[in-house]
Formats: sequence, structure tokens, C-alpha cells
Amino acid sequence: MVCLGNICRSPMAEGILESKAKMAGLNWMVDSAGTNNGYHVGEQPHPLSQKVARQHAVDISTQCARAFVAEDFDRFDKIYAMSSDILNDIKNISRKKFDSSKADLLLNELYPGENRNVPDPWFGDEPGYHVVFEMIDKACDKIIKHYRQPSTVNRQPL
Ligand code: 4NP
Repeated sequence: MVCLGNICRSPMAEGILESKAKMAGLNWMVDSAGTNNGYHVGEQPHPLSQKVARQHAVDISTQCARAFVAEDFDRFDKIYAMSSDILNDIKNISRKKFDSSKADLLLNELYPGENRNVPDPWFGDEPGYHVVFEMIDKACDKIIKHYRQPSTVNRQPL
């Protein structure tokens, strides 16, 4: 999950997807990063991201902002950008490692091909963080449905 500062949108996205994956019994490694490594590296998520996530029983307080790096394409099967400017940053940072089959806009999971952006709540106040949480939450439900392997539990032998 990738945004600009890795303190507002992508930490919520990391926490939400990680929590849904756990609840679905999926052993996924979920992480987040920012494309601007000068801003907030080493910081905790924004207090309003933490507050809104906590209201939905998602604890993101232990996360720590880091920079997106090209090697993330080696470590992860999917790279979700919160907005199209971030997807461009990801291309520029990754250069030869960029893999278009792995990278997409998060909201394309919900609205395929529409290239919608998750708005940046950084310059606004609390309501914007709730809007962002809801968008990411719905997109993560879709990701779980999309990539979950068919269950082998309770399957009877033929
Ligand atoms: P994020 O939001 O990309 O969702 O973490 C931002 C955080 C910080 C800044 C911009 C956006 N900033 O300009 O410092």
C-alpha cells in the first residue's frame, strides 16, 4: 500500500488489509510505504488516521513510515498506489524493476479501469479521514474476495 508520506492513507490501508486478511485466515504479509522519503520517514501514522482506524478496531499505532523502494517489487505480489501521481512516482523510483502486472491503483479493485484516486486527507480535517477509511475498507473487502484461495478446509475426499 503506497501513498506520498506513508502517514495518512497507506497506514490505514495496511492496517485494514492486514486485519481483514487475518480474519479470513490468510497468511499475507501486508506493508506500506511512501514515495516521498524526505517528509515523514520514521514517524507514526497521523493522529487522525490512528483515531479513525481505532474506531473500527484497527490498531495502526505501531506502524512506522518508510520510503518505497524498487526492491518492493521483489518482495510483494501486489503494489497498490492510492492515486495516479503515486503510481507515476512508483514507476520513476522502480525503473527496470517496475512490473505493471503487480502495480495498480487501489480503487481499480472496486472500479476496474476507472483509475479513481483515494483523496489525500492531509490538508483537511477529521471528516476526510472517515471518507478515506470507508473507500479503502471497501477496496480491501474486494481484494480479499479477489485473491483468496478456495478453501480446502472441510473438503471431503472424492
Ligand atoms: P499521505 O498524506 O500521502 O496519505 O501520507 C500526506 C502526508 C504528508 C504530506 C502530504 C500528504 N506532506 O506534504 O507532508
